Amino acid sequence: MRFLKWAVVFIVLAGIVAATVPFWPAKSTYDEAAAQATLSSDKDALIARGKYLVAAADCVACHQSPDGAPFAGGLPIETPFGVIHGTNITPDADNGIGAYSSADMYHAIADGIRKDGQWLYPAMPYASYHEIRQEDSDAIYAYLMTQTPVKRANPATGLPFPFNQRWLLSYWNLVNPKISIADATSGSSDHNGAYLTEVLGHCQECHTPRNLMGGLKLASAYEGGVLGKGILAPSLTPAGLAERGWTAEDLRTFLKAGIAPQGTMTLEMFPVLDHSTQYLNEEDIAAIQGYLTGETLPSRQPSEAPKPTDPDAHKRGRDTYVAVCAGCHGIEGEGKPHIAPPMTTNTSLRLADPSNLLHVLLDGVPEQHYPNGEVMQEMPGFAQTLSEQELIDLANYMRVEWGGQPAILTTETLSGDLAVSAR
Ligand code: HEC
Ligand code: HEC
Ligand code: HEC
Repeated sequence: MRFLKWAVVFIVLAGIVAATVPFWPAKSTYDEAAAQATLSSDKDALIARGKYLVAAADCVACHQSPDGAPFAGGLPIETPFGVIHGTNITPDADNGIGAYSSADMYHAIADGIRKDGQWLYPAMPYASYHEIRQEDSDAIYAYLMTQTPVKRANPATGLPFPFNQRWLLSYWNLVNPKISIADATSGSSDHNGAYLTEVLGHCQECHTPRNLMGGLKLASAYEGGVLGKGILAPSLTPAGLAERGWTAEDLRTFLKAGIAPQGTMTLEMFPVLDHSTQYLNEEDIAAIQGYLTGETLPSRQPSEAPKPTDPDAHKRGRDTYVAVCAGCHGIEGEGKPHIAPPMTTNTSLRLADPSNLLHVLLDGVPEQHYPNGEVMQEMPGFAQTLSEQELIDLANYMRVEWGGQPAILTTETLSGDLAVSAR
């Protein structure tokens, strides 16, 4: 009897401990002395470094205002659980980070814990930023504190119950591990590819599939992620990239300039270029590319060219292409410099999943400004001007003709959830 009683007491106590463990603050250690040393070092160099790191970590992509003010917040970010807004991170005392210390900033970035001790939603990519170096977080802090404070209140998050309960994130953080690069040793410490790619660049946040809780499936790192509206962030594994015809050099060009023979940056990738990778120096670009693929990628081995399954449909697709697209993309899909990219080498045709191709065809691409003064004019969307059948025939034609992919599009693919139904 006595044994049973103690066993019950033990189990209850163990239960209480287990239930509260997640609520224990999960803060990383912050070295105040080191921070003082960093923050009192050469101000100009520190701020310049902070600015560079803010670009490498792409903070603006999420923290700008909808009208483009860099750190003023309010940009809606769609998640499967509801809308979350990037917050105001200008040094405004009421709405921004005016009251943050450098330690508060570090815990927000590395641990996802904001100044008032509450969890941040993982839409703030702290699963990636977790191992940010303290001196880098301090430099980011120093830079952000030089910005003009903007009085702009943060919109409330649009999350329904129970997702609006921040304490539940304790459990989320317990079961969804953060990225660790402790074992990765590529590159020198200054131009460390793992650090730039995994931590600052947080490339996995889009390019790795997620579990039902929205956590990253780290065991399938870089195998490709599906974003809102079925948009695909393609696989960045060496095999995946090689299959679509990437070379090391083209990858570096793509990250620096946004344009390569394999395509232009579109959809969610364009802001990555716009606020981040174009500002990285050559060494850091090379470090990212080197980390992802190493120096040599196997050359593309196109599988035996698929035959058009329906020659009439193939011909109809060709006719539409010539009539509607060739004026910009060239009669044989060869592209026109400064007007439109080639289709013959374009990866959106080489992906088994046609989602991104369909998105571009239906919605078009807005006018985008690339580095070096290159401007791509707007590509119109064809959702209104081409019939469903015309779009299907056209996409199938292009996939077979230039992508080496089978003509799998049907009426169902076009009207259903693009990404899922096509996979
Ligand atoms: C992928 C989008 C994304 C990126 C990139 C991002 N953030 Fe955030 N951040 C968010 C979101 C969304 C929130 C608000 C989350 C919430 O409400 O729980 C947030 C919250 C914060 C907060 C807390 C502000 C507060 O409410 O007290 C700070 C500080 C912050 N981010 C700083 C940064 C810095 C610095 C960077 C770059 C190193 C950065 N963020 C990059 C999405 C992002
Ligand atoms: C008015 C000129 C114009 C017309 C007409 C046009 N496009 Fe485009 N297209 C562009 C431009 C410019 C881009 C690159 C946009 C950017 O990246 O800023 C582009 C991009 C694309 C892309 C994506 C490239 C990538 O790398 O992601 C595809 C696919 C594409 N077009 C297919 C078509 C098809 C199919 C048609 C005919 C139905 C068509 N386009 C008609 C100008 C045009
Ligand atoms: C906000 C989501 C997002 C983030 C963050 C992101 N990407 Fe992407 N990426 C995309 C999407 C969507 C595409 C497909 C559209 C395109 O090709 O432009 C893409 C395309 C690419 C491609 C071209 C793949 C192909 O075959 O067409 C490369 C290479 C790439 N990303 C590298 C990176 C690297 C490196 C990082 C980190 C520095 C990164 N991406 C971060 C969303 C993202």
